[in-house]
Amino acid sequence: MISLRAWFMVLVLYLIAICTLLSRSATNSDFLFLSSVDKRDLDGTGHRMDHLGLTGGKLIRLFEKHLVHVASKDRGDVPIKVSRYYDAFKDYLFDESSKCNPVRSVVARLTRDVEPVPIHSHNDYWRSLPLFEALAYGATSVEADVWIVKDPQDSQKNALAVAHNENYIDSVHQSLDNLYTDLLLQMLNEVNCQDEDRSHGVFFDSPETTLFLFIDFKSQDNRETYSLLMNRYLKPLIDQNYTSYYDMNQHKMVWRQITVVLTGDFPNDLDVVDEDLDHGYFHDDKRYVTLESSIIDQSTMIPNTSVMAASSFSEMLEGCHSSLANAVWRGRLDHQEITCMKSMISKTQQNGVRTRIWGVPNWPRRTVKTFWRQIVDDLQSDVLNVDKLRLATRRF
Ligand SMILES: *[C@@H]1O[C@H](CO)[C@@H](O)[C@H](O)[C@H]1NC(C)=O
Ligand SMILES: *[C@@H]1O[C@H](CO)[C@@H](O)[C@H](O)[C@H]1NC(C)=O
Repeated sequence: MISLRAWFMVLVLYLIAICTLLSRSATNSDFLFLSSVDKRDLDGTGHRMDHLGLTGGKLIRLFEKHLVHVASKDRGDVPIKVSRYYDAFKDYLFDESSKCNPVRSVVARLTRDVEPVPIHSHNDYWRSLPLFEALAYGATSVEADVWIVKDPQDSQKNALAVAHNENYIDSVHQSLDNLYTDLLLQMLNEVNCQDEDRSHGVFFDSPETTLFLFIDFKSQDNRETYSLLMNRYLKPLIDQNYTSYYDMNQHKMVWRQITVVLTGDFPNDLDVVDEDLDHGYFHDDKRYVTLESSIIDQSTMIPNTSVMAASSFSEMLEGCHSSLANAVWRGRLDHQEITCMKSMISKTQQNGVRTRIWGVPNWPRRTVKTFWRQIVDDLQSDVLNVDKLRLATRRF
């Protein structure tokens, strides 16, 4: 017995040694790769870190691994906008050569070889790379919390900034257009500039896949938030025909590249959303936003306005005479909980509405993975709400 155990220990140590060596050599070669790219910049070819050829999660991991290197790069007098990391990443993606050149476009640089997955990037704006990281991992749904702020360019006007907490708002660099809507507009313009139908979306290999853009209303004055959202931030996307809409004449959804979903404290009232009840906010018989409804309580849903419903994990468990504590303690959902929650999900889906369950605990990891599996496989919920993108994409 003892000798067997000793042999086992030797084997384990041996494996650890091999793994360490392998990971070392991988790091070194990546590092060489990146520094040779940098050398080329120094040669004065004009293209810092040109077209690396890595996309998706690999690109993100390359930047992450060399964060110090990337961030300490001498950028002259260029001031920091969002962060050195974000600014460097964005500079890499967006440069002159990508204009009207779909193969060199931001969409190609970021999402070529990336398979879109039904994942919702919860608190997306909180990541070190808002929007970009989600798209790189193929998440088809992102969420931005918006607040009304004084417009930094014009103190007479208001604007919308993206932040989690009202006390920490950078209205200059973290505005809704700087982090989301302007970037999406540029990205879509690049890939559609030679296309008659203008129907290419943000995923290179799956141009027809729509991106759900959740706008979470945080400020008290939700009418003003709505009016700013429509007139200032969404209008440019709408004018280019990039947003999905409900056709008020044909009574059906028309899917485009970006599908806007209002969540949080939004005005759940067609007098505000449509303003002109017969012809819609822009008087063109189209409704360019959809309203999030609830999985548990569908009574508040206005007919034909919703494509996404959500409820929290704990609310659903309580609606099923259980609790979050019970489920976490057990480490999985039991048969009764599954049957009950599944019926809530199916009822929502029967109305043509997709479902998202939020508030699934982030810890312990094994339990999280079990819950995710049960939510996707057993409950057949449509969109998985996650904080950890990389871990979640391995599920699909
Ligand atoms: C958007 O669609 C409308 C109606 O189909 C069309 O008239 C208009 O030219 C399109 N706009 C652009 C920028 O393609
Ligand atoms: C909702 O859509 C259906 C067709 O799918 C239509 O018959 C009905 O009139 C619509 N209701 C409203 C309020 O638009």
